Amino acid sequence: MNLKQLLEQYENHIPITMVTAYDYPSAKTVEESGIDMILVGDSVATTVLGLDSTIQVSMDDMIHHTKAVKRGAKDTFTVVDMPFSTVGVSVDDTVRNGMELYKQSNAQALKIEGAHPITLEAIERLTDFGVPIVGHIGLTPQSFGITGYAVQAKTEEAALNLIQEAKALQESGIVMLVLEAIPSDLAKRVTGELNVPTIGIGAGSHTDGQVLVYHDILQYGIHRYPKFVKPYLNLNESIQTALSQFRSEVKDRTFPNEDTTYKVKVWEEK
Ligand code: KIV
Ligand code: NA
Repeated sequence: MNLKQLLEQYENHIPITMVTAYDYPSAKTVEESGIDMILVGDSVATTVLGLDSTIQVSMDDMIHHTKAVKRGAKDTFTVVDMPFSTVGVSVDDTVRNGMELYKQSNAQALKIEGAHPITLEAIERLTDFGVPIVGHIGLTPQSFGITGYAVQAKTEEAALNLIQEAKALQESGIVMLVLEAIPSDLAKRVTGELNVPTIGIGAGSHTDGQVLVYHDILQYGIHRYPKFVKPYLNLNESIQTALSQFRSEVKDRTFPNEDTTYKVKVWEEK
């Protein structure tokens, strides 16, 4: 699936599916399940690296994880998040960091949070030089220090402001827009006003696509999750069961057994 095919799905009103992946096995399973796109999210911070927020993720972390993802999902359109500290110092820095991440990670697009004037201009320049950019507004977790993790744009003023951000991002050249944790009505309106696909997470059912975090869908190392997550599996439970079974079988010497032992005669019994 390339960008052109994704946009064809959008034109034909076929919902676009996106799931995060952070390493080879997660990417491989996402690709094999027929999901349209992969996001190497900076959520790698909390899901995989055990950090408190996405703020501490570095450029090197994102490159490292995206390379592993691409080895597992060569044929899937992959978007990588620009980390917090690589955006916003200046347009020049943002453009330079974006080009570097695009070049080194082997991803097919970059995602950048927010619609600050610096961000908008950097998106325009990156787009002009051939780098596909995915926007991300509503709840932008890199700003949690100011906004927290609550649902965004709950007043009319904030909602109108979000619509302006969406239009400004479209004007700057984004190829898609992630809408996170906003009222469904607002996501519907933004989706109607744009001519690029909207991908929702906690934005209701009217967006052009949906994205969820791999570890949330599978309940893998996740023990608390927001309202918009639907867990389709409880891997925590399955893993605990398997590991404690291994433990007790070793303790009571039922593992290894005949089946899991090499019975090759290397010397004669004396
Ligand atoms: O990092 C991430 O996983 C994201 C999605 C929640 C959109 O940005
Ligand atoms: Na992210």
